[in-house]
Order: sequence, then structure tokens, then C-alpha cells
Amino acid sequence: MALMELQWQYRASRVLMTAHQLGFFAALREPKTSIEVAAQCGTHADMTEKLLIACCAMGVVRREGDCFTLTPLARDMLLPESPRYIGGVLDHGENLWWTWTGLTEWVRTGQRESTPKAPEPYASHWHENWIWAMHGIGANGVAQWLARQLDLSDRRNLLDVAGGPGTYSIALCQRFPQLRATVWDLPPTIAIATQVIRRFGMEDRITLQVGDWNKDEFGADYDCLLMGNILHGAGSQADMKLAKAFRALLPGGLLIVHDFLLNNDKSGPLPAALFNINVGAYTIGELLAVVRAAGFKEASLVAYNAQRGSGLVTAVR
Ligand SMILES: C[S@@+](CC[C@H](N)C(=O)[O-])C[C@H]1O[C@@H](n2cnc3c(N)ncnc32)[C@H](O)[C@@H]1O
Repeated sequence: MALMELQWQYRASRVLMTAHQLGFFAALREPKTSIEVAAQCGTHADMTEKLLIACCAMGVVRREGDCFTLTPLARDMLLPESPRYIGGVLDHGENLWWTWTGLTEWVRTGQRESTPKAPEPYASHWHENWIWAMHGIGANGVAQWLARQLDLSDRRNLLDVAGGPGTYSIALCQRFPQLRATVWDLPPTIAIATQVIRRFGMEDRITLQVGDWNKDEFGADYDCLLMGNILHGAGSQADMKLAKAFRALLPGGLLIVHDFLLNNDKSGPLPAALFNINVGAYTIGELLAVVRAAGFKEASLVAYNAQRGSGLVTAVR
């Protein structure tokens, strides 16, 4: 039964993405019948009710007689006004849906390009959806988890290389009041980080800086440096990025690497194994080895989140 359930999980995933895309969750800010939801969203009444029943079974919608309403979980994660909104995760999920749909051909040919593109408007908003997805993931516990594993109470100046929407810098600055951070990333990402940092009221603690790791140095004189989700296995130019990180840190500076990591015998866990198919992942041992090879000392795994398949490695310059 467990194996068959695993196989069927795509149906629930599709229902969640479709309900989000059709605006069902926004429509249910106030309780409504399925006919009212269908009228507001321009959808078919019977199919709307069927989707809403499935949303009830998933715990995001509650049924009260003929009316449907959002559960507290859905209010917290599925409405755009919430700081933990995961609309980006669902939109990015639509892009990846098509990539995974083409997996058979991809495995046959080794050509990721052979996978189908998502329909518009998803394909042309790929970068934006991806960065908002990073925020949704970070803001729902992962960034706080990372901040709890570290002691940066004697550090002042963090560089968040390819810091994306800035969610991890925000969590670290919230936990360590003396810390200031610089989120360094490509221009379209910095445009989103600007919105996120303003939303969290962190403009006085977090600076934004445009950079491209293929052309630019990361800067200098930082006493800690975060590389979150940018060292994804052999194809990730880890040597080049770590050499630039080494030059950006002061002697004694702390390197912090957070990424999906496979266990050393390459048998899981499942989230890291799936990420490895789509993007790539080191094992814990491989990551420690590349960090040491870049000249860092005291490299060690300080925490591993097996449910998520991600680990946290620190080392000293
Ligand atoms: C997987 S996201 C990680 C974001 C964030 N560190 C996190 O953990 O959520 C990868 C980041 O790398 C950035 N990036 C991609 N190519 C880059 C480049 N050439 N130079 C600088 N940043 C780049 C993207 O804009 C994105 O923010």
C-alpha cells in the first residue's frame, strides 16, 4: 500500500497546484459554497466542488455544511499576505512538473533539454517563480532551523553569496542582533530580495549587492560567509566558488555551507536523492572534501535534517 500511495502522490500535488492557479484559496478568504467559488474563479461548478472536497481531505480547506473555508494552515501558507506564503513554491512546482514529466526521455537521452516546457505564463516567469519558491521554503522553517544550528554571536559581517530572496540572512540577523548581512546575487534576484527585505523591515541590517560568480569576486573582509544551495555536486563549479569565498573571508572567518546532501553510501535520503536527479548533490563526505581542498580548516557537518535531506557544514578560513 505504501508503495502504491507513493506512486499516486502526483494527484494530490496536481490538485494543490491547480486550486492555487485557479484562485480557489484567495476566493476562500471568506466562506463560500462551491458554486460561489466557481462563479468567482470562472470554473466548472461540479469540478470545482470535487477539487474543494480533495482540498478538505488534504487539510487546507474545511467544510461547514454547504460552505468551504480555509484552515489556519492554508491561511498561513496559501494567502499572499502571509510572510510564509508558498505561492512561489507552487508556481515553481508547475515549471518543474513539466521537467519531471519528461524524465523518461531525459534518462534515455541524458538531455534535460528534451523535457517539455511549462505552459505560459510559467515558462517566462521561471526565474521569478524559482526565487519566490526559495523564499517560501526558507520562510517555513528551514531558515530558522539553519539559524538555530549556528552560533554567530561573535560575528559582525555576513556575506550571503547567491543569497536569493535574502530569507536566510533575515533569519540570521533576527537571531543575532549584532550581525549585519550583505545579500549578493544576480540583478533579477536582487530585485526580489529588495521586496522581501523591505517586507521584513530589515533594510537597516541587510545590504544588497549585485554580482555574478562567473565574472566577479565576492568582495573582502567578511567574518562569515554563507553559501546556501549553490554547491550542488560535481557540476556546480564548487572549486571556483569556494576559492572566491576563501578570498572574501578574513583569516578566522567562518564558512557556512547549506545544501541537499546524500548520505555517504549514496542510498538516500529520498529528498536529496530526488534533488540529485533534477539538479545534483554531493554526499556529506564529498562536500567536506571539496571544502578542505579549497584550503578551509576544521570542516565538519554541524547538523543534518534527514526529513529534508539537507545538511549544514562549517569550516574556518
Ligand atoms: C538555489 S538558489 C539559492 C538561494 C539562497 N541561497 C537559498 O538558499 O535559498 C541559487 C541562487 O543562485 C543565484 N545565481 C545563479 N547564478 C548566479 C551567478 N552566475 N552569480 C550569482 N548568483 C547566481 C540565483 O539567482 C539564486 O538566488
